Amino acid sequence: MLHTITVDLPGRAYDIHIAPGLLHQAGERIHAVCPQAALAYVVTDSNVHPLYYPALERSLQQAGLTPVCHVVPAGEASKCPAQLTRLWEGMLSAGLTRSDVVVALGGGVVGDLAGFSAATILRGVDYIQIPTTLLAQVDSSVGGKTAIDLPQGKNLAGAFWQPRLVLMDPDTLHTLPDEVFADGMAEVIKYGCIASEAFFRSLERRPSRQGIMAVIESVLAVCCDLKRELVVQDERDHGLRMLLNFGHTLGHAYELAGRYQTWSHGQAVSAGMVRAAELGVTLGVTPPSIAVRLAELVSAFGLPRSIPCTQEDYAAAIGLDKKGQGARMHLILVDRLGHALAYPMKKAQLLQLL
Ligand code: NAD
Ligand code: GLY
Repeated sequence: MLHTITVDLPGRAYDIHIAPGLLHQAGERIHAVCPQAALAYVVTDSNVHPLYYPALERSLQQAGLTPVCHVVPAGEASKCPAQLTRLWEGMLSAGLTRSDVVVALGGGVVGDLAGFSAATILRGVDYIQIPTTLLAQVDSSVGGKTAIDLPQGKNLAGAFWQPRLVLMDPDTLHTLPDEVFADGMAEVIKYGCIASEAFFRSLERRPSRQGIMAVIESVLAVCCDLKRELVVQDERDHGLRMLLNFGHTLGHAYELAGRYQTWSHGQAVSAGMVRAAELGVTLGVTPPSIAVRLAELVSAFGLPRSIPCTQEDYAAAIGLDKKGQGARMHLILVDRLGHALAYPMKKAQLLQLL
């Protein structure tokens, strides 16, 4: 069955389609939303290319599009200015015009990099997201945030640039290593905490990869719909969309604590959510049972409940230096299962609690 969710942004509405086997229909579906496109500039990575590019290439050709493939090395290091420049150059040498289309085939790294290249080449061309990791399917391919990393930090140069279409084929998830699948589960669990008690309970009833894969289409549809709801109300991340950062402020500290090597983003977010729930209990905002259930659920998916972190790394991650003692921030807390709020506090107060 095909699930379709429409991200109804004024003047830039687009569909998210979810169905097994969708990769094989990508050409006709891209042609339907970009009928003027002749060339499809596909960006993918070195792991995904051998697995899924051949099917995409065939489908694009059958739809009358000319595919050109650009492969970047797998891994976060490819979200960098040098790869972006290579993409721009590749697009121009391939003869890309403003009526053509860029296609991101891969995880969040490829999606963010290809999306930013599409936002900037020729002052912006259409792009399509074909996410192939769980994290990219439930989070990064939806909502139009695109970016690269700079030496000063992650995602520091980017743009809000919405895709024209998102095609999710859950069959692509079967080839994910367990740790990469678990990373995505941290974000899936996050949606349950901040936006749907019923969804959280349904995850508790299926605490394994196999259990989730048995109902993967509805899991993807629920997550994308919850994200859609926040994105359409706050595309530019000034208010409600920040609720998606539950677990991420402390998660950044844990990524930093492991120098971006020891802990993956999903692992760091997992420990960040559990710690935020514990802090919420201390502050009298979060019911204690939520912290317990959340810790049990992340553990069931092999995600950590806690990660060691120094005060220096916490301070750096929340942006507290000696000059910033009085600075205020919002910590996302869960006040009841399926509901979150932005809790205002002084950064120094948070550091003290940690
Ligand atoms: P990733 O893109 O690096 O993918 C993880 C690994 O899985 C890579 O080695 C990749 O080659 C491999 N892979 C991808 N699909 C596969 C498949 N189907 N089978 C086998 N291997 C596969 O990482 P990710 O976790 O997907 O994304 C992380 C990135 O997403 C970060 O850069 C983060 O900043 C970004 N992100 C962006 C947003 C947003 O809103 N734009 C949101 C969350 C995260
Ligand atoms: N991943 C957070 C956001 O899209 O806002």
